[in-house]
Amino acid sequence: MQPNLALLKKNALAEIVSAASQAELEKIKVRYLGRKGELTAILRSLKDLAEEERRQTGKDANIVKNELLTVIDEKLKELAVSRNTYTLDLTLPGRKRFIGTKHPLTLVVERITEIFIGLGFEEILGPEIESEWYNFEALNIPEAHPSRGEMFGPFYLSDGWLLRSHTSPVQIRVMEKTKSPIRVIAPGRVYRRDAFDASHSPVFHQVEGLYVDKGVSFANLKGVLEKFCQEMFGADIKTQLTPSYFPFTEPSAELSISCTNCAGEGCRVCKQTGWLEILGCGMVHPQVLRNVGYNPDEVTGYAFGMGIERIAMIKYKIDDIRHFFTNDLRFLRQFREI
Ligand code: DAH
Repeated sequence: MQPNLALLKKNALAEIVSAASQAELEKIKVRYLGRKGELTAILRSLKDLAEEERRQTGKDANIVKNELLTVIDEKLKELAVSRNTYTLDLTLPGRKRFIGTKHPLTLVVERITEIFIGLGFEEILGPEIESEWYNFEALNIPEAHPSRGEMFGPFYLSDGWLLRSHTSPVQIRVMEKTKSPIRVIAPGRVYRRDAFDASHSPVFHQVEGLYVDKGVSFANLKGVLEKFCQEMFGADIKTQLTPSYFPFTEPSAELSISCTNCAGEGCRVCKQTGWLEILGCGMVHPQVLRNVGYNPDEVTGYAFGMGIERIAMIKYKIDDIRHFFTNDLRFLRQFREI
C-alpha cells in the first residue's frame, strides 16, 4: 500500500475512534470522504498514475474507503446508544413551556366587538391609508376647518393620501356601498402626529360604531351605549352624556362612566371629577348622509367612536399608554382574560 494511503488510514481510524459526538464524526467523514476529502483526492488523482500503479492504488484506496465507512457507521451507532443511555438525567427538574398570551389590546378589542355583535352589530374593517375625502371631507370636515389640524393632525403620504387619523372614514366607506339599514362596528389602527408620552401615542386603536335606519334616535344611541358600558365595566357602572362637538355628528356628545377607581368619589385617576370620559358620539350629520347619497329626510343614524387604549387603561388600571407598545414580556404576560 502506498505510504500516504497507509498514513491516511491510520490517522482517520484514530480520529474516528476518539470522536465524542455525532457532529464531530460527521466532520471527520467529510474531511476524508467528502467531495473535497483527502481520500477522494487520492481516488481522483489515480488517472495520472501509470497503469500498474493505478490498478493497485485504486484497489487499496477503495478497500480503505469501505473500511472507514464501516467503522464510522459502527461509531455512529455507539454514540447514539451512549447518548440515549447516559445523557438523559431524569433527576433534573422539567423545563416549563412558555404559553403565549394575547396582547391586552387584542383582548379588549375582542371583548368590545363581542358585546356589540351581541347587540346586533356586524364587524367590518377599513383601510389604514385613506384619501382626504374619506378622512375629512365626506365627514363634513372642510379644508379650513380647525379640527383638521387640532383634533386629527394627520401623517400625510404622497399624492393626497394619508394615514387615517380616526376610524370614522369607515362610516363613509360602508354607507357608500350599502343601503340602510346598516349596523356596524369597525375596529382598527389610527395615526396622529402626537407625542409619544404617558397618555399619547402616534399610533393607537379605535372602534367606530354606526347605525343608520328609518327612525334611529338619540335615545337608541343612549340605550346601546349604556348597555355596552354595563357589559364592559359591570352592572353598577353609571354613565353620563355631556354635549360636545364633532363636525360629523349633530347633536354631538361625550360619554363618561363613573370612575372605576373611586366609584365617583373623586380621585387622581378621574382628576377629582368622579367621571372618566370614554367616547365621542352623536347623530350622523345630515350633510354626511347626503355625501353618501342617503336622504336625511328618510333615514337617520347614530355614530360613536372610542379609543381602545383608553378603555384598556381603565379596565386594567394601566397608567402609561407606552406599555402597550414596548412589548415587555413581563408586562404582556399579565393579561390572560378580560
Ligand atoms: N372620530 C372621533 C375621534 O377620532 C371620535 C368620534 C366622535 C367618532 C363622534 C364618532 C362620533 O363616530 O360620532 O376623536
